[in-house]
Amino acid sequence: MPGVKITTLVDDCCFTGGLLGEHGLSILVENKYGAVLFDTGQGMALEHNIKAMGLDLSDLDAAAVSHGHNDHTGGLMKVLKMRGKDGMTIYAHRGIFNPRQKLGKDGRPADTGIPFTQAELEKEGAVFKFNNGPTEIITGIMLTGPIERLFKETSTKSHFIVKNGELVEDPFEDDQALVVETSQGIVIIFGCAHAGVINTMNHVEKITGEKRFYALLGGTHLLEADRNQLENTLKEIEKRDVSIIAFSHCTGFHSCAFFAEYFRGKYYQSDVGFSIEF
Ligand SMILES: [Fe+2]
Ligand SMILES: [Fe+2]
Repeated sequence: MPGVKITTLVDDCCFTGGLLGEHGLSILVENKYGAVLFDTGQGMALEHNIKAMGLDLSDLDAAAVSHGHNDHTGGLMKVLKMRGKDGMTIYAHRGIFNPRQKLGKDGRPADTGIPFTQAELEKEGAVFKFNNGPTEIITGIMLTGPIERLFKETSTKSHFIVKNGELVEDPFEDDQALVVETSQGIVIIFGCAHAGVINTMNHVEKITGEKRFYALLGGTHLLEADRNQLENTLKEIEKRDVSIIAFSHCTGFHSCAFFAEYFRGKYYQSDVGFSIEF
């Protein structure tokens, strides 16, 4: 195996027979030191896709959680059950357990937070390592820690946490990305990028000292972005001299199409089963 392999296990889009798509994200990252599962989707597709792809979670060193939304954390219990007595270390910001709600199209709030308590997950073998800054999971794979917001990039208007019984605009204090070192350079994997793609890239530059990134993957929460924001994001990506762009999930159809058109030859859709090796 080359140095690093990244495989999409769960995504909103699925174009491969025998695999399942669902609204959510889960990405497996393997390098010569081990394997890390980044997010787990909603929990309906992950186990099926792992089996259908002939993968085995027994070699997994840890899971990492990008943020507490249920389309990223809903599969955690399934993963723990698949691991059985081995249990699993889970890296995340403590804020993933914030109760969360989102206003639906009918204007009524619905739960969007993690569907398990910490105690329920620990009972099934979870060992939480809560981080509040950049944290290495295994050699070459790191969680960013909380991301500084220099720009207001994504709308949080319909996203809330529940604090003292009140709905408060969600600060997404738990939002983090995964940083993977490869022989070609740094790869950033976004969960939903609620902190913003540009803010996340700036943060990764700050913590790694690298101004250029080899690849960007995952969900960018640009699904409602206007043309101006898409163009700003594109300019910042260009400055980073990125060679591979593989967006998915909450990037949304129109924004994926925008980047696919501009970065023709460099753009891939990171749908279920998408795999890239460095
Ligand atoms: Fe998401
Ligand atoms: Fe999210």
